[in-house]
Amino acid sequence: MQLLSSLLFAQLPSLIANLTSPTAASTVTATAPAMATHTFTLPPLPYEYNALEPHISEQIMKLHHDKHHQAYVTNLNAATASQSEAFKNNDVKAEIALQSAIKFHGGGHINHSLFWPSLCPSSSPCSSPSSAPSFVAAIESQYGSLDTFKDAYNKLLMGIQGSGWGWIVKRNGRIEMEVTKDQDPITTGEVVLGVDMWEHAYYLQYWNDKAAYIKGVWEVINWETAEKRWGGKKVGDVRV
Ligand SMILES: *[C@@H]1O[C@H](CO)[C@@H](O)[C@H](O)[C@H]1NC(C)=O
Ligand SMILES: [Fe+2]
Repeated sequence: MQLLSSLLFAQLPSLIANLTSPTAASTVTATAPAMATHTFTLPPLPYEYNALEPHISEQIMKLHHDKHHQAYVTNLNAATASQSEAFKNNDVKAEIALQSAIKFHGGGHINHSLFWPSLCPSSSPCSSPSSAPSFVAAIESQYGSLDTFKDAYNKLLMGIQGSGWGWIVKRNGRIEMEVTKDQDPITTGEVVLGVDMWEHAYYLQYWNDKAAYIKGVWEVINWETAEKRWGGKKVGDVRV
C-alpha cells in the first residue's frame, strides 16, 4: 500500500499534465494502480509560523498553511479516492467528472509544497542572494544584473490578473519566468522559485497593496533553495 501510494504520488504531476491530453490520459488510466488508496499529506512548514515576520505575518502563515494548503490536500485525497473507485468500476464518466477537481487540488498541493521552501526568515543567511552563487551568476549572464531580473519578475507578478502564481523555471539551462496558464501546474522544466499571488497569501496584512507584498517577499526569498534547485536538486517537489 505504501508502495502503491508513493507510485501514485510520483505520478501526480504527469497525471495532472495528462488530463487535457486524451491519448496520454488513456495511458495513465491503463497503468494506474486501480485500487490504490493514495494519501497525500500536508508537509510541515520548514520554519515557525512567525519566522517570516514582519514580512509575512504569523496569522497569514497559519491560515495559508493549516487551512488553505490543508484543504487542497484533503480535497485531493477525497478526489483520488473517488477516482480509484471509478477506476475499479470502469466508470469512465465518473473518472472524467473528477479530473478538474484533481487538477485544481493537486495543482494547489504541488504549488504550495514548492512555495514554503521558496521562503525563509530574513534574519537567516538563506535569504541573501550570496547563498546562491551559481544561480546569481546565471541571472547576471542572462539579465545583466540581479536588479534587472528582479524588475522583470516584479512586472510579471504585478501583471497577474486575479488569483495566480509567478514561477521562475529552469528550462534547457536557462531562466524562464512564467505565470499561470489555464490552471496547468508547471510540468516542464524545474521550478526554481514560486510566488503565490492569490489574495489569501497577502490580503490580511497588505490588503490590496500587491507591490508592498512583493517587496516583502523579496526579503524572505530562500536563495539557498533556489541554488539547490538550480543545481538540479528537488526541494518541496511532490515527486520526491
Ligand atoms: C498552481 O500553479 C499553476 C501554474 O502557475 C496554476 O496554473 C494553477 O492555477 C495553480 N493552482 C492552484 C490551485 O493554485
Ligand atoms: Fe496559496
